[in-house]
Amino acid sequence: MENKLYHGAAYYPELWDEKVIEEDLKLMKQTGINVVRIGEFAWSTMEPEEDIFDFSFFVKIIERLYENGIETVMCTPTPTPPIWFTHGHPERMYVDSDGKVMGHGSRQHACTNHPYLRERAALITEQLAKAAGGLPGVIGWQLDNEFKCHVNQCMCETCKELWHEWLRKRYGTIENLNDAWGTKIWSEYYLSFEQVPQPEPAPFLHNSSLSTMYQLFSMEKIAEFADEQAAIIRKFSAAPITHNSSIAFGVDNEKLFNNLDFASFDTYASIDDYAAYLINSDLWRNFKPGTPFWVMETSPSYAASLKSYASPHPNGYLKAEAAAAYALGSGGFCYWLWRQQRAGCEQPHGSVLSAWGKPTVGYANVLEVEELRKKIEPIILSTKPAQAELAITYSDRAKAFLETESHRKLKHRGLITDFYKRILSMGIHRDLIPEGASLEGYKLLFTPFIPYLSEDYITRAKKFVENGGIWIVGPLTGGRTEHHTVHTDRALGQLEEVSGIEVLYTYPMDDTGSIGRAFDQSAPLGLWSSVFETGTGHDVGVIEEGLSQGKAFISEKSHGFGKIVMLGSMPLGEAGELMLQNLIDHYSNEADLSLRTDVSSGTIVAPRQGEGYRVWFIINMDGNGGSVTIPHQGIDLETNSLVEPGKLEIGRFECKSIRFNEN
Ligand code: GAL
Repeated sequence: MENKLYHGAAYYPELWDEKVIEEDLKLMKQTGINVVRIGEFAWSTMEPEEDIFDFSFFVKIIERLYENGIETVMCTPTPTPPIWFTHGHPERMYVDSDGKVMGHGSRQHACTNHPYLRERAALITEQLAKAAGGLPGVIGWQLDNEFKCHVNQCMCETCKELWHEWLRKRYGTIENLNDAWGTKIWSEYYLSFEQVPQPEPAPFLHNSSLSTMYQLFSMEKIAEFADEQAAIIRKFSAAPITHNSSIAFGVDNEKLFNNLDFASFDTYASIDDYAAYLINSDLWRNFKPGTPFWVMETSPSYAASLKSYASPHPNGYLKAEAAAAYALGSGGFCYWLWRQQRAGCEQPHGSVLSAWGKPTVGYANVLEVEELRKKIEPIILSTKPAQAELAITYSDRAKAFLETESHRKLKHRGLITDFYKRILSMGIHRDLIPEGASLEGYKLLFTPFIPYLSEDYITRAKKFVENGGIWIVGPLTGGRTEHHTVHTDRALGQLEEVSGIEVLYTYPMDDTGSIGRAFDQSAPLGLWSSVFETGTGHDVGVIEEGLSQGKAFISEKSHGFGKIVMLGSMPLGEAGELMLQNLIDHYSNEADLSLRTDVSSGTIVAPRQGEGYRVWFIINMDGNGGSVTIPHQGIDLETNSLVEPGKLEIGRFECKSIRFNEN
């Protein structure tokens, strides 16, 4: 992959005739598309009958694209096994949690754990990598497409066997499992691994351990499938490998990207939720630190299918999205899709070109992106995204725990996005980091909404604190064991021991009339909460009203050069929002964060680091324009003029880049 900024689109040449392809190549060049992603649903074109392989169409296309200056991300076609694989073979198909067996059609209809699927997937991957892996036009690979996007844990007979194998490996003996899961409860007690059910339909809820472990099993298996494909491709191709994922899917992204070469995501967030768009860049940057991630799919205008459509972006927003992605660490910004689908189930979806070859409503915006890309490319390529000083830990494992124990329909994604939005709106540069990420270089660490915190994480966070970091833990964090049971030594187990802050009791504070006071603000409290003793010299937030009046819901304790802050409950409503902002503000000041601006809400500052200088990309995301205070003299890199300290106005969807020399 070259050191350049990619601007691309998903392309399905196998669906069109030669005349259209000819036109596409011409128009792609005109538009400034320099990369396409092809092949991810084309299994039946590549292997129309079992063992009859033909990649000549794709090889020719890749070569033609390359001659026209357009490079290719080649995909394995495994989300759509052809009819020869599925017909008459219900045992190879995906089975949902109600026991419904999928038939042929749509996509992700087969079980990715079935041995014959694995065998055929390995074979098509190998043949494809042999045919295309050495072509100079192939600059990258994408495995499959959006693993576990439409489906989640499969409940087929194959998965049942593998589940038992997985449990045996994890627990060794059935007695260990019985003990860890507490299976004497409701007479669940198993005599052998073969008897452990999948979380199939049941009159009431399954054992929490069973539900959570089945999700972790499924997440591990899909990462294993990805690893298998990647290892095959590497035998024939040096091009880097990725997968287009999301925080919305049933995958553990940290595991998934562990053995891949670069990270990518798909997002279709609309302008009303631009924070849900931005969160991806702040997270994906950290799955493969130091390597640019890609926005592999986003719509040039609006997402849609036969059953629904979203609102088209206002003109100008797409450019703001692209600017934000590139500034926050993306090496590629790609659309779904180039030419509107003629058939299938996604004809209404926004595209760059219509099915009849005319520019769509989004086309002018795509041209704007291209103009921006050319302008900022030299700046982006000579700088790197600045490491944040504030980190929020993101955990897909926590997503599984919260899926099992969702209290009142809590979703990890929503909880973490709301938490993120707050920090974003406060103008603080931030990293979302996976659980295993290094804590080096951070000053302030937030660990909210992670029911099970591993020993490894706690040990590293403790060290971070001893070296001077401030660690803010909770709400909802630490109350469950690795098996998704309740601790029996202390409410929060090892976390409580390490923090040195004793939990008196835990209970749901919602609707109890509980009011807490902290940082000059009183607010109602909610969510499953931990209550701490007061009068210990550690109180920060005290419960003024409610069942635990006089006790604490925020406590802090120094350790080494830093401190641990236990956030035991969730401040709610507008007052709660203010309290949380005051809390973040308080500890940001204490941690002496420097990557913070007074940028107005709806506009962002993405800092990048060059040698001896820093660049701020200032981008208006909400279309209302905004402002930020420039701390000292800089240079506007577009106009090459001096920017004096003081208030700088940013127009609607405007993107400015300002360089500050460091001395
Ligand atoms: C993605 C998928 C694409 C297309 C797109 C439509 O989930 O990867 O193939 O379906 O959504 O928004």
